[in-house]
Amino acid sequence: MSVEKPGKRNPAPTRTAIEDIRSGLKVTSRLPAIAGRSEFLYAHPFAQFQGIEKGRPPVTQSTLITPNGGTLKDCMVPAGDAKALQDAAGSMPSITLSAKQACDLEMIAMGAFSPLDGFVGPEDFESICRNMRMTDGTVWPIPITLAVDDATKGTLSEGKQAALKHPDGTLLAVIDVTSIYAHDKKLEIPNVFRTEDSSHPGVQAVAEEGDWLIGGPIHVLTTEPASGDAERFENYRLTPAQTRAAFAERGWSRVAAFQTRNPIHRAHEYLCKCAQEICDGLLIHPLVGETKPGDIPADVRMKCYETIIENYFVADRTMLTVMPGAMRYAGPREAILHALIRQNYGATHFIVGRDHAGVGDYYGTYDAQLIFNEFNRDEIAVEPLRFEHAAWSNRAQGMVSAKTFPKLEGDQIFLSGTKVREMLGRGERPPGEFSRPEVADVLIDWAVSAAAPA
Ligand code: ADX
Repeated sequence: MSVEKPGKRNPAPTRTAIEDIRSGLKVTSRLPAIAGRSEFLYAHPFAQFQGIEKGRPPVTQSTLITPNGGTLKDCMVPAGDAKALQDAAGSMPSITLSAKQACDLEMIAMGAFSPLDGFVGPEDFESICRNMRMTDGTVWPIPITLAVDDATKGTLSEGKQAALKHPDGTLLAVIDVTSIYAHDKKLEIPNVFRTEDSSHPGVQAVAEEGDWLIGGPIHVLTTEPASGDAERFENYRLTPAQTRAAFAERGWSRVAAFQTRNPIHRAHEYLCKCAQEICDGLLIHPLVGETKPGDIPADVRMKCYETIIENYFVADRTMLTVMPGAMRYAGPREAILHALIRQNYGATHFIVGRDHAGVGDYYGTYDAQLIFNEFNRDEIAVEPLRFEHAAWSNRAQGMVSAKTFPKLEGDQIFLSGTKVREMLGRGERPPGEFSRPEVADVLIDWAVSAAAPA
């Protein structure tokens, strides 16, 4: 897709992200305009295959899947109220957010964490940790908390407000402090992560957080830090309301979402394409929020996704936007979280493969699929698409899983992450059966420059 990339050298244009997606479609358009359609459908090469032409009712925002909890939250302060809140924040105590908390704030702000409209209070915290549900019964698997240390806690009072700041000092939001309570890590860690091992990156992150939690709704002024240091992928940073609008405009009523935190390889591509066969469209939705040291940087991964879409996907059936949430590595519980987030973005189906959101060997290969069985069908609207471990089979000359091709000794191509990194660092492409060569080349550029002395 020839969507231009923003960044320091190429500053983000002022047009909206939706317009960027539209212009991306214009570039890839192959069919002539259809009279009487919106600009978006004019440009849409698949317009002729859409429901309208087949006599199906058009997909509209209101016919899309219901957000988790019923309504899409929007915690952004209306422009007209921003100045007064900014001024008032000057005399409030302030909380400097961690990178993970700043990610959570953005997810809450735009409704990606609906029905949350702020950081959880003590009753929801306990209910989520114990039951994977909020006190009103809505499914929610991981508490979204605002942890602070003793010193910060001492400046706050229940019933008052506090300013929430980015680590660079940008005023992001104001919270109505409705509760201040002890951070029960002994409850949270084993329930959420199924382990208390401090080498688990998610466990470690919670263990290092402050001992107090602040609950309450938030009023968000901006999600963008003034320093502008981090790559934000503005052209791809669509809110749930914007992806929903884009699905409706494309006429997609069945949309599969693909979560990933890694460069896209052949097994990922296979899952995506299986999902495309049974849905109208695919949302490749990489997580670009906080990840652990050692994970491949989001800007490198984005180049991989752009490259593979350009070379191996049907552009009009594929959408790439980013999910700015933080990774927790909580395996099964995080799979539920990832699914609900994508439901909020308008996806009807969600891909869950092997060891989804796992790390090390803390979780069983299919635990992240089995956990969906703990909920009634009417509790989670988005449908998990469960995939077995997939790999290239030399005998079958294609991607297979244990469900589709008999396992033969030495037939399938498996490469460990370490082995792949070693190859890339030497400037060697992994086999084409593991990674598309265009993707391998993006990774080689990164690996070789990362290895070069500064
Ligand atoms: S994750 O943390 O986002 O789950 P990753 O980006 O590696 O990590 O995986 C993205 C999705 O692809 C997850 O649903 C994962 O389970 C699935 N997946 C990755 N590799 C395979 C594979 N070889 N076979 C089946 N599913 C896979």
